Amino acid sequence: MFSTSLRDGFEIRLLEERHADEMFAAVERNREHLRQWLPWVDATKTADDGLAFIRSSLEMFAAQQGFAAAIWYRGRVAGVIGTHRIDWRNRRVELGYWLAREFEGKGIITDACRLAITHLFRDMELNRVEIRCAAANAKSSAIPRRLGFKLEGTHRDAELVNGRYHDLLVYGMLKSEWP
Ligand SMILES: CC(C)(COP(=O)(O)OP(=O)(O)OC[C@H]1O[C@@H](n2cnc3c(N)ncnc32)[C@H](O)[C@@H]1OP(=O)(O)O)[C@@H](O)C(=O)NCCC(=O)NCCS
Repeated sequence: MFSTSLRDGFEIRLLEERHADEMFAAVERNREHLRQWLPWVDATKTADDGLAFIRSSLEMFAAQQGFAAAIWYRGRVAGVIGTHRIDWRNRRVELGYWLAREFEGKGIITDACRLAITHLFRDMELNRVEIRCAAANAKSSAIPRRLGFKLEGTHRDAELVNGRYHDLLVYGMLKSEWP
């Protein structure tokens, strides 16, 4: 249900409660890889923590406030892509993502972002999509750059991960600029 194929056997599906164990297993397998950049990883200790995230994402989806979807490959969660809460007043939203280490380097998240952004502009009729990433997270900031986002500025010391403050780069794309 609610799935769309990406390419080469990868597909995106809206996260449902029944996916909690598989999503948590992917986080467990990639804990060290993910925790360097994602502040929620250390707080995700059990599948129930993942379930709570999925439940709040589904509530957000039902209220037309955003979504969270998993990227699947051969029955396993390869990564997650989703939005923060949509700012309807200003018709803008922030996009986030992560990918298991074994699937890096294939353009999967870039493709997933392309699909999600087209949905946000065309179906949801938003005007602006943002991607924010730590200045030191080169792999992550390569994604908005590859997609033609504009680097709009730096929020200094805006994210605290593992006891260290990181500058956040803010990338933006407007509906009128999206190919
Ligand atoms: C950030 C993250 C998702 C990037 O993963 P990624 O695999 O580099 O991104 P993509 O899936 O878009 O793949 C791009 C890579 O595939 C290569 N590639 C191969 N085929 C490609 C194609 N058809 N299209 C685009 N890129 C392709 C690109 O050259 C690039 O490789 P490079 O970094 O060696 O140049 C991943 O490193 C991650 O999850 N990190 C930990 C969590 C995190 O940082 N999340 C983001 C917080 S802001």
